[in-house]
Amino acid sequence: PLVSMTDMLNKAFQNQYAVGQYNINNLEWTQAILQAAEEEQSPVILGVSEGAAKYMGGFNLIVKMVEALMESQGTTVPVAIHLDHGQSIENCKKALDAGFTSVMIDGSHHPIDENIEMTKAVVEYAHAKGASVEAEVGTVGGEEDGVIGGVNYADLDECVRITHEAKADALAAALGSVHGPYQGEPKLGFKEMEEIANATKTPLVLHGGSGIPTESVKKAIRFGHAKINVNTECQIEWTKAVREKLATDDKVYDPRKVIGPGKEAIVRVVKGKMQEFGSSNRA
Ligand code: G3H
Ligand code: ZN
Repeated sequence: PLVSMTDMLNKAFQNQYAVGQYNINNLEWTQAILQAAEEEQSPVILGVSEGAAKYMGGFNLIVKMVEALMESQGTTVPVAIHLDHGQSIENCKKALDAGFTSVMIDGSHHPIDENIEMTKAVVEYAHAKGASVEAEVGTVGGEEDGVIGGVNYADLDECVRITHEAKADALAAALGSVHGPYQGEPKLGFKEMEEIANATKTPLVLHGGSGIPTESVKKAIRFGHAKINVNTECQIEWTKAVREKLATDDKVYDPRKVIGPGKEAIVRVVKGKMQEFGSSNRA
């Protein structure tokens, strides 16, 4: 069923595993992620960035597509449709009106008081609809939907304030993770993670989940991460599979044969992440 993230993340937070958010780009992408979740019997969060929403034809179309796919694929596991890095209250409201079951309000580029006010407004609107809200404090490195920024660690007091005052259901506390491929090993603030999780008692969200070594992933989960976002790894593997097909078959012109192998690659990546994050068999 289509649900908010609240129950799935609270369960994961209590039982020391993480639910993955896998970003979608088109119909096949969504089919692949839903298939992986069903095969692994894992809860799943479909992430939709503002850019991807525009690319796919808007929030309404995406909700209808996901609902239709879940019906035709016989999805039984819990699925959330989540706006990733929502930039304004307006956009979050539009996604929720269209039927998104969860949104992220990314007020991290604003001063903390504004960030809290924005988050509070979105939480009130979302909770009235039974939807969940993710807030962000600090800065995730790399590119965020076209905006490139440096790493900026989340401040403990700000994390406490945004969870207590705005009542966000999940908190992306930036602690060294980066969007896109890592240059060398990621330097994550594990000590800060533990402090923030203990002080806020709120499920933490790890952005930039692609390319983090398994040991660090396990540690991040132990220190309060209940949601891990993965996008780049699916994109890289999809492109690798499609490129390989085109490189080895110069007669192919049927689009289904060109991008079909990409779908299999995504199923493989997502199933692997579900096992690594411990969300398999937790549906
Ligand atoms: O919000 C999306 C994620 O943080 C994705 O990060 O592309 O590095 O996996 P990634
Ligand atoms: Zn992110």
